Amino acid sequence: MNLPDLAAARIRVPRGVPADVEVHLFPVAQYRPLLDSHGHLLSSAGQDRAEQGDSSAVRRLSHVLLRLLLARRPAPAPETSLARTAELIAVALADRPVGADVEKQQSPEQAELLLSLLHPADQRRLRGRPASEVTAAWTRKEATLKAMGVGLRRGPGLDEVGTRRRPRAPRGWQVRQLALPPALGAELAVAWRD
Ligand SMILES: CC(C)(COP(=O)(O)OP(=O)(O)OC[C@H]1O[C@@H](n2cnc3c(N)ncnc32)[C@H](O)[C@@H]1OP(=O)(O)O)[C@@H](O)C(=O)NCCC(=O)NCCS
Repeated sequence: MNLPDLAAARIRVPRGVPADVEVHLFPVAQYRPLLDSHGHLLSSAGQDRAEQGDSSAVRRLSHVLLRLLLARRPAPAPETSLARTAELIAVALADRPVGADVEKQQSPEQAELLLSLLHPADQRRLRGRPASEVTAAWTRKEATLKAMGVGLRRGPGLDEVGTRRRPRAPRGWQVRQLALPPALGAELAVAWRD
């Protein structure tokens, strides 16, 4: 079987993202064969996180991809972050705390809900903007909270996310939006410790 090339999934990051921060975006449909060919990588660990709780195929595939990316890197193991939609898997690796988030473009109704959870200044900035801007803002929010390691335990309205062009993050952290082809119907962001 011809297995898909991992290197093809590496995303070009904008200027200002440190050289050690790598982001990969895998279309699930294209990389799914790896579950059959490399699924054994998960069970070998016994305690693998992908075997706990929700063990959907996309989740297991994300952990297989993470393992394959780690295997290509020299020690020491980098920091990592995972994010998934039904169609896409994002993996970030860096020599520092890092967070990634990918989200399917939200409907106007879904965007309205997400907007209501953001910082009041972000709500003012984004009100009336297309749902894609709110989706993007939410990916900056989740990427940052993942880099910080707190997830949604930290209220999403506490810190500003700014705009696509001028992203904001809490002091000591940085976040950037990554450009995706519109055909993917998704937004992607990466955050890291400064
Ligand atoms: C981090 C979080 C926002 C991601 O949510 P999501 O959009 O559903 O899921 P994503 O696909 O973007 O990311 C999932 C991955 O994020 C990572 N992740 C989860 N919690 C994390 C945290 N606190 N810090 C860093 N990364 C985290 C994990 O790698 C997870 O995948 P895995 O469980 O297979 O290892 C969310 O899981 C969270 O905040 N959890 C904390 C617990 C919580 O508040 N629960 C109540 C929610 S109503």
